[in-house]
Amino acid sequence: MKEPGRKAADAYVLPEEKGGHGNLSLVDTHAHLDLLKEDVVAVLREAREAGVTGVVTVGISLDSSRKAVEMARTHSGVRAVVGVHPHDAKDLDRQTLRELRRLATDPFVVGIGETGLDFYRNLSPRTDQERAFRSQLELARELDLPVVVHDREAHAETLRILEEYAPFGGRLIMHCFSGDLDTARAVLDMGGYISVAGPVTFPNARRLQDIVRRLPLDRLLIETDCPFLSPHPYRGKPNSPARLVLVASRVAELKGLCLGELRLPDPFTRD
Ligand code: NI
Repeated sequence: MKEPGRKAADAYVLPEEKGGHGNLSLVDTHAHLDLLKEDVVAVLREAREAGVTGVVTVGISLDSSRKAVEMARTHSGVRAVVGVHPHDAKDLDRQTLRELRRLATDPFVVGIGETGLDFYRNLSPRTDQERAFRSQLELARELDLPVVVHDREAHAETLRILEEYAPFGGRLIMHCFSGDLDTARAVLDMGGYISVAGPVTFPNARRLQDIVRRLPLDRLLIETDCPFLSPHPYRGKPNSPARLVLVASRVAELKGLCLGELRLPDPFTRD
């Protein structure tokens, strides 16, 4: 959905003095392209015009994971992560896991997730969430793929389970990080990455902004989690990969860099 009066990609073109966007090449490390209401071709074109050249689309269920793989096969610059979200953890039975394993062998699949724990909404019982989390951690380890972790109001329990599978050697991504500095450090110690989304742009997100200031750039990722979590000043509106530029711009600012100088790692590179 477009905001009235906004001209497609123009809304994301930043002035030259802020680093411009001409040679930007950002990767949206966490998007849900299958949940967007707009045409994906148009969404990806708009993203490219804004400087977002790569998108990792993440499954939340078996059906959504299938769509993610299909999109990666169809659209250049798109890669897929397959998994079952903690909200749907109760549905992860043996057959679903077998099907996920099969999907994960597709060359366009670059990770397992999103999995983890959500004790905020508790849409699946906690025991199911923990079981599904462990199954997907084991699958990621078996296939030597990065695991994409969702942790909402379950920091201690998430860390406790992750520690059983550490070290990760770069094969762990904490998506839409919302923990404190100690949690971030524990993730780094396990060989993981911290990924920040739209909330880093909110004026009152001081704790997250402080964490970004302190973390090494080679352990930091950016994402939109679209259609959710639109960055400031679009908070509450549907999000899209083009808006990654606003997240990138804020992160660059927190690091004392121009947007054009921001170089972040890509843990989804398959070699
Ligand atoms: Ni997500």
